[in-house]
Amino acid sequence: SMSVQLGDNTQTTTKGTTTNLKTVVIERCRDYIRTFPQMSSNNCDAIWEAFQNSFLGKDPCNVKVEDYDLFITTVQQDIPCNKSLFWSKTSQIAHDFAKATKCLMTLEDTLLGYMMDGLKWCGKQHSKELNYTSCPGWVECELNPVRSFWRRASAHFAELACGNVMVMLNGSIDTPFNKQSIFGSVEIKRFDSEKINYISIRVIDSLQDRVSCNSMSLEDLGKILKNASLNFDCKDIDKSEVERCINDPIPHSCDCVN
Ligand code: APR
Repeated sequence: SMSVQLGDNTQTTTKGTTTNLKTVVIERCRDYIRTFPQMSSNNCDAIWEAFQNSFLGKDPCNVKVEDYDLFITTVQQDIPCNKSLFWSKTSQIAHDFAKATKCLMTLEDTLLGYMMDGLKWCGKQHSKELNYTSCPGWVECELNPVRSFWRRASAHFAELACGNVMVMLNGSIDTPFNKQSIFGSVEIKRFDSEKINYISIRVIDSLQDRVSCNSMSLEDLGKILKNASLNFDCKDIDKSEVERCINDPIPHSCDCVN
């Protein structure tokens, strides 16, 4: 089958654009719409066209975040209030938690994120072709097509957030809140205090008795949120406790980490 499941790390096997990128993206789009029939106003062929128009023909180190603006508007999806889960350096556990509890959705659970998760792509200047030979890495140049896409999609996801939202941070590192991360540099700036009621910050600790919520890093985050008039609380949660929620989920409930 041509379909690639979430979690396949296609980018480790190729230095250029993911093999069969067009087929993979369109198949994932159709797969998503089959699973969520309320999404059927979306046209996967039109979505692919808008996507490739964002970066084809451009220098792969000069694809701007705004180059995806039109593509973002091509994808129609309502994100319900009280469902959004943000994360930073907690990819695995945050996605496992969202999947198991079914009460929250990450960017990768939306159509935009689902289509592009784990994929790599770039074009070439003055050419209408995809570059299957080599694409810049995440840090090689800032304005690479993959990074600019995730920054644009993340900004959009954060702008849509409403009601009570959750953030899962990593308490095993010195800076659970990193101002340079996509969460710290893109998403918190897009949170709208008129729409967001409350932000539950959960710092996932692998060592017992960690008090990451009292760390300087979390103090920085607290200041930023207060200045933006955003209400929040912070709790340190043992990784083992979250793993218990994942393995034995209370149906349709996020109470596990509250
Ligand atoms: N190389 C390749 N990919 C990277 C790199 C890198 N050096 N750094 C980050 N990424 C990509 C990976 O796909 C990684 O899983 O960005 C993802 C998130 O990186 P983190 O540093 O763990 O977290 P953060 O930058 O805060 O981004 C996560 O942004 O996409 C949104 O809603 C999402 O809240 C989430 C946040």
